[in-house]
Amino acid sequence: MMGQIFTELLELVETKYGYEIVDQLLSNSKLHSGGSYTAIGTYNHIELLILVKNLSELVHIPINELVRDFGEAIFIKLILSHPQILGGISDSFELLSKIDSYIHVEVGKLYPRAQLPHFKYDQISDNHVHLHYRSTRPFASFAEGLLLGCGQYFNEKFIITRLLSADSSEMNVTFDIVRQQKALIHG
Ligand code: HEM
Repeated sequence: MMGQIFTELLELVETKYGYEIVDQLLSNSKLHSGGSYTAIGTYNHIELLILVKNLSELVHIPINELVRDFGEAIFIKLILSHPQILGGISDSFELLSKIDSYIHVEVGKLYPRAQLPHFKYDQISDNHVHLHYRSTRPFASFAEGLLLGCGQYFNEKFIITRLLSADSSEMNVTFDIVRQQKALIHG
């Protein structure tokens, strides 16, 4: 998994909980890499899962909630650090329709070692889509957070629910997404 993901996570933990928690987290986690991440390195995604599990114990917030919040916060950072990738996309659902066919393809060219999930886009109506996530790794909550961040980026609210089926899991899930313009949201 890309180092940028790890450096952003530790930065966010420091901003939200302070550097003592970062210190404690790294010393509790006994990571193979030693926890000295660089943005351009590549690390085992298991380390991310260990960090989040230990953070959850330190701050008493469920793992899935932490991973989702992290995804939500990192979306804008991914966009700002790769401005060329968004070029020409001006609509949130257009972006969702292009994750698999364009965005992650470009990401894969920039970072040949990136391991990327698959998305299937299914438009139900103007403001309603189904997005099916499938990965070899259990990051559905991270995807959900990125989706929330995407809505915010376009000044919209995404109402996201998971369509559960017998084989849904953190590696395989369909998101039902309804978008609302922020100006139209009351209360
Ligand atoms: C709402 C839109 C997006 C969603 C839902 C999404 C989803 C994901 C997920 C869930 C992962 C974790 C890997 C996995 O699950 O197997 C991932 C990885 C990644 N995505 Fe996206 N993504 C989105 C947009 C973007 C954009 C706009 C960029 C860059 C401009 C980007 C760059 C990356 C990178 C660099 C990784 C890390 C790959 C690795 O560590 O090996 N994504 N994405």
